[in-house]
Amino acid sequence: MMPYTNSFGRFTYAFVLFLSVVVGFSDTQLVINVRNQGGDVVQENISANVSDDTVTLEFQRSDGTLVTQLIDFKNEVQVLKSLILGEEERGQSQYQVMCFIFHFPKDSFISSDAMSKLRQKNPGTIRTPEEDLGRTNRTMDYVVFVQHSGMISPYIPDLCAEAGTNVYARHEDIIKWAALQGISETSYLTAIKAFPSTPNLFLSNDLRIEDTSSLPSCTDTKNMLTQCQCHLELCIGWYPCGLKYCKGKGPTKNSVMSYRCGIKTCRTCHLFAYYVAQKQMCLWDE
Ligand SMILES: *[C@@H]1O[C@H](CO)[C@@H](O)[C@H](O)[C@H]1NC(C)=O
Ligand SMILES: *[C@@H]1O[C@H](CO)[C@@H](O)[C@H](O)[C@H]1NC(C)=O
Ligand SMILES: *[C@@H]1O[C@H](CO)[C@@H](O)[C@H](O)[C@H]1NC(C)=O
Repeated sequence: MMPYTNSFGRFTYAFVLFLSVVVGFSDTQLVINVRNQGGDVVQENISANVSDDTVTLEFQRSDGTLVTQLIDFKNEVQVLKSLILGEEERGQSQYQVMCFIFHFPKDSFISSDAMSKLRQKNPGTIRTPEEDLGRTNRTMDYVVFVQHSGMISPYIPDLCAEAGTNVYARHEDIIKWAALQGISETSYLTAIKAFPSTPNLFLSNDLRIEDTSSLPSCTDTKNMLTQCQCHLELCIGWYPCGLKYCKGKGPTKNSVMSYRCGIKTCRTCHLFAYYVAQKQMCLWDE
């Protein structure tokens, strides 16, 4: 075990990266108790797959919504999947599954390798993040065809299979991924489609919209059968967003060496705006 001293704060004690001790684990899942902003405690499951270079974080919100975040470090892709329970009293017995795919900025989550080595001393502890990164607005202007989504990240077809046609991305991220892969943007044409031209069962040709941003918000739409721009906020209440380094005595006299001794933790929210063909697909946005 790495040494640590008093001066590095309480959190170092509670949450230490046992870098030298834990070797070759792959089946580890951390279960973290997180106090959310409403005061409820939500259990987050976080696991890493080092060979795939992925991290998966999963939790169930107090309203029943199941949220899965997948980070594919290699392809700089993150996916937020939400499974929202239907409102039975309004005739929705089914659940709705949606996937939001967007660019993953490097270094905004600890590596899958560091994640796989993270252990908590007191698993029962209820945690709050050190830093609140606030909310990011993301307007999803593209639909992703899930059967071809493997070209964005090989994990999307499985993860988002249930979402069907409710898989969304953004043009600005497609540009980033194309550059990263060294391919042209047009290579993605089999996998994506801009919203306005999306054929829809409920939408006749003359009703096609030309500009998603000109759509009324579902909040302002009264008719359950009209298209509108839906908003969904998904927050990750606690995650390891960086490593902390501590200084200790080096191998030789008077030398100082720095080593990883803990993690920095963050909270962040994503507000997604996206097209729905009918307001009844967006009943929470009122
Ligand atoms: C990691 O991914 C590989 C390849 O997809 C898979 O075979 C393995 O079971 C995964 N490991 C864990 C712990 O899920
Ligand atoms: C988290 O993991 C526990 C234990 O493996 C499991 O019972 C629970 O259903 C998981 N929760 C979620 C939201 O995946
Ligand atoms: C994000 O969206 C919300 C709701 O639509 C809006 O009130 C807010 O001003 C937006 N923030 C930014 C930075 O665009």
